[in-house]
Amino acid sequence: MEKKKFRAAITAVAHWVPDKLLTNADLEKMVDTNDEWITSRRGIKERHILEKGATSDMAAEACKILFEKHNINPEEIDVIVFGTVTPDMMFPSATCLLQAKTGMTNAWGFDVSAACCGFAYSLVVGAQFIESGTAKKVLVVGADKMSSIVDYTDRNTCILFGDAAGVVLLERTEEKNVGILDFYNTIDGNGAQYLNMPGGGSLNPPSHETVDKKMHYVFQDGKNVYQYAVKGMSEASALIVERNGLTGKDVGLFVPHQANKRIIDSAAQRMGLSESQVMLNIDRYGNTTAATIPICLSEAVSTGRLKKGDIVVIAAFGGGFTCSSILVKWAY
Ligand code: UT7
Repeated sequence: MEKKKFRAAITAVAHWVPDKLLTNADLEKMVDTNDEWITSRRGIKERHILEKGATSDMAAEACKILFEKHNINPEEIDVIVFGTVTPDMMFPSATCLLQAKTGMTNAWGFDVSAACCGFAYSLVVGAQFIESGTAKKVLVVGADKMSSIVDYTDRNTCILFGDAAGVVLLERTEEKNVGILDFYNTIDGNGAQYLNMPGGGSLNPPSHETVDKKMHYVFQDGKNVYQYAVKGMSEASALIVERNGLTGKDVGLFVPHQANKRIIDSAAQRMGLSESQVMLNIDRYGNTTAATIPICLSEAVSTGRLKKGDIVVIAAFGGGFTCSSILVKWAY
């Protein structure tokens, strides 16, 4: 029995990245690494870095692009759901700061903390407001200023991350079987030890000691995260396809979180996808945490890789651990 009152469709998408580039050549001067190693082992050539401002500023730029391109009045937005692990400050939420910067005066909203699944979880949460009939227009944001929590003396992590923002608009659709069709989200809190930022919260409030011990930076036990990520993302993406009676052939575009091409390849292989079905842009942005998926969607639309009626599989895995797969039929 269909429990949803309405169906939620993505009707607009935009992204914004700061101009400043951090290239592999730049990183060669900062840590013991080289372009050949980073390119062949990590698949990243460059990342964008925000020099001035905060996460909500990047999100505001992405919103402005979306509103202008699609002729949307910001006052029409009912709810904002904002995935980020680098909010401007502990409180108020990045959502409140974004609202004030963009004139979404009739919206309420909140931040979602789910690391690399921040956008995927926010999309699912936002869809619930549309499906229940409590909102007509929901703005879903994924943005992170990773450069604010990365240790640029640690070659293991500093080459991986970049800054960016992406945003989508969710609206009601009358069309059958269009929009957000299904999702599968999980968390496993036992994974917290492998990927975290230990300082600055209530457990380790900021002090000289937490700064000296570099506790305000991303800590990643890469090998452990990798093993869980391969399993988690592959299983979640295969499950969402199979339980909807689909096969890899039906997938128009696979839009995975951009952390590691090998993790993406495993998930794509499990679904039986060819390279042309997989969205990849890690080479130009690195891992932008909550922003990777909306940037991919935005670029896929602007380059014509994503068209009305296409089946899209979104998948992400990240700190928490968090894991998400979402099945979407593209609406425009
Ligand atoms: O986005 C949130 C979720 N995160 C993920 O999904 C990330 C999951 N993890 C991974 O993708 C991978 O584990 C990493 C990319 C983080 C690391 O991959 P790895 O397979 O664990 O590392 P590796 O074997 O490719 O390289 C490790 C070696 C180390 O040397 P030893 O100890 O093996 O001698 C590092 O010291 O590579 C060395 N290394 C570097 N060498 C040159 C690490 N970084 C660098 C560097 N340049 N920048």
